[in-house]
Amino acid sequence: MTALAHPSNPAPLQGVQAVLFDAYGTLFDVYSVAQLAEQLFPGQGQALAVLWRDKQIDYTRLVSTSKQGPQRASVYQPFWELTRAGLRYACKRLGLNLSPEREAQLMNQYRQLSAFAESREVLHALKAQGLVTGVLSNGDPAMLQAAVQSAGLAGLLDHVISVDAIRAYKTDPLAYALGEQATGLRPPQIAFVSSNGWDALAATWYGFQTLWVNRQGLPQEEIGPAPTRVATNLHGVLDMLA
Ligand code: LAC
Repeated sequence: MTALAHPSNPAPLQGVQAVLFDAYGTLFDVYSVAQLAEQLFPGQGQALAVLWRDKQIDYTRLVSTSKQGPQRASVYQPFWELTRAGLRYACKRLGLNLSPEREAQLMNQYRQLSAFAESREVLHALKAQGLVTGVLSNGDPAMLQAAVQSAGLAGLLDHVISVDAIRAYKTDPLAYALGEQATGLRPPQIAFVSSNGWDALAATWYGFQTLWVNRQGLPQEEIGPAPTRVATNLHGVLDMLA
């Protein structure tokens, strides 16, 4: 008689040949951004960090789903510019005085992120298992290169994939398709890892196997299928493939 898998200890995924990671908040710790925000605007750092992030992602959706004028021209702007715009908006909304110096300081945090404590170990383990590794991110190529270097992950990533190539952002299916194109693999052969519930959901819709790294104990999205797996940190990647 076959033993039923315990729900909290499900069977490992079969057929995965590549693991692609979201960048900000997934491989790279954006806590330093909130920390600096709190130093610059005491008592408002957390609110600023949350509103900034929400507006940044809001703008990616706005430019991905809109066109301008009778020619239906693209309104795409690189992630660096949308990140800056999100910061300016969030400060205005909260009534904070964002001087050029403070703006430069906060923006530079995005270029100097640390990796989460377990990022290196997990990437090492995946490489040791012969798996292909990569980042698949909204970040533009210059931002991603800077973050990968700063976090010391360069040698552990086979692909650093930016949606800038298609001038549209996740969750446009063309963004996830870049993962297939870079690896030459089909969606079920790719595990996609994100700390954003919405990103994990859209990647699940797309056909990837997915891990939602729910570091903050947030509720699961109320629409769509559940991610293939949920974990509280990146060790969940190794658990789901073990
Ligand atoms: C990224 C953002 C969404 O890296 O975290 O794509």
